[in-house]
Amino acid sequence: MPPATGVRPFQCGVRALSDPQDPVGTSLDSGHGRHRGLPVDTLALVSRAPGTAGEPVGHRTVGELPTGRFDDAPFIRACRGLAVDRVPVWFMRQAGRSLPEYRAARGTGSILEAITRPDLVAELTRQPVDRYGTDAAIFFSDIVVPVAAVGFGVEVTPGTGPVVARPFRARGDLDRLRPLEPELDTPFVIAAIEQVVGQLAVPLIGFAGAPFTVASYLVEGGPSRNFTKVKTLMTTEPGVWFELMDRLCAMAVTSLRSQLDAGASAVQLFDSWAGSLSPHHYEHFALPATCRVIAELSESHPASPVILFGVGTGELLGLMATSGADVVGVDWRVPLDQARQRLGPEVAVQGNLDPALCLGPAATAVEETRLVLQRAGSRPGHIFNLGHGVLPETDPGVLERVVDVVHAEGLSGVVSSG
Ligand code: CP3
Repeated sequence: MPPATGVRPFQCGVRALSDPQDPVGTSLDSGHGRHRGLPVDTLALVSRAPGTAGEPVGHRTVGELPTGRFDDAPFIRACRGLAVDRVPVWFMRQAGRSLPEYRAARGTGSILEAITRPDLVAELTRQPVDRYGTDAAIFFSDIVVPVAAVGFGVEVTPGTGPVVARPFRARGDLDRLRPLEPELDTPFVIAAIEQVVGQLAVPLIGFAGAPFTVASYLVEGGPSRNFTKVKTLMTTEPGVWFELMDRLCAMAVTSLRSQLDAGASAVQLFDSWAGSLSPHHYEHFALPATCRVIAELSESHPASPVILFGVGTGELLGLMATSGADVVGVDWRVPLDQARQRLGPEVAVQGNLDPALCLGPAATAVEETRLVLQRAGSRPGHIFNLGHGVLPETDPGVLERVVDVVHAEGLSGVVSSG
């Protein structure tokens, strides 16, 4: 039962029907999701963007999409559910404290200061690609950058994470969240992306926090175990909550568009803490804003894959599959064969080695990597990743071995593009 309070009509992406000729989606080179050219009514996303309400978006076939520099890259092909000649791999938090070269280049001081220096950001973004040979780079930044840039008052404390001096408490706090103007507020993001894409031989992933996860920091005032304040706000002040979602949705769209325009090839929406919600609260209070971010990106950047990721989202995967995302990232709690069943054939899957298993001997991580690859099975549309970010104490040598195994053995179960 949806909660009685604050019901707002919103139709998220309608789950695509599976092809009766190909019920498990094994056919190659047709692609999937937004890119598969399904009949309009099967994949319709209804955008609430001003001036576009009710118009379906996102139904291009692969053949109709504008061509991009990395169309043939395994990462982009896997995002589209196309056959690959090797399983692509990248790691969330692949840049960072586990790398000695990161610790040497980064120096001390706030990460929010470091990310304003394009030369440094380009270097930190390239480092893990150079070391591991990953199939994608993730832009070096943080999910709180847009809210910090409009002056909400956010710091990132080492060992803790984002901390908000004056947390979001009431309607009046909405005034502290003016629209993001990327050229004025985050020119350093644009400059760093333009610089690094010229240096990378693999696609760059831009990113933003999904509205719920960013709101959780703003409302809780920092990292949270039980998310009590954010749950209280959404259920007792739904009008304020949905206005907050609107502002954060607009900010994510603006930020992601600026990253794609500067040269990112794909984006990931981090809804890291969505798994704290029950399915009906996720569907009602968090998913609509996520759907809207993706629908608006589908309009402006239909060829750019969107990955939606969260932790502890096993019970939410069916709902996440309706978001319009091309790829859903899964943590280690759900085996990938089950995750694929819950997601359906139209969505690619990303994951899901437990990052803690990279702290022991390399042989353990290698064996566990093989198990993930087995569970991912032979259907195209798997991007190997960890189930969450690289832990700072990880030995980079272990991740090097993981990448080698994914590249060497990942296709043994996957149908090759020949
Ligand atoms: O390779 C990469 O992924 C680097 C880019 C990146 C960072 N943060 C850099 C960073 C990305 C994609 C993020 C996203 C991010 N930030 C998320 C979503 C991903 C996830 O983990 O679920 C979240 C929840 C945050 C908020 C945040 N920022 C946390 C929880 C922390 C860690 C605090 C700590 O010290 O343990 C940060 C700081 C942060 N962001 C660091 C890095 C490399 C570490 C601090 C530093 O080096 O100064």
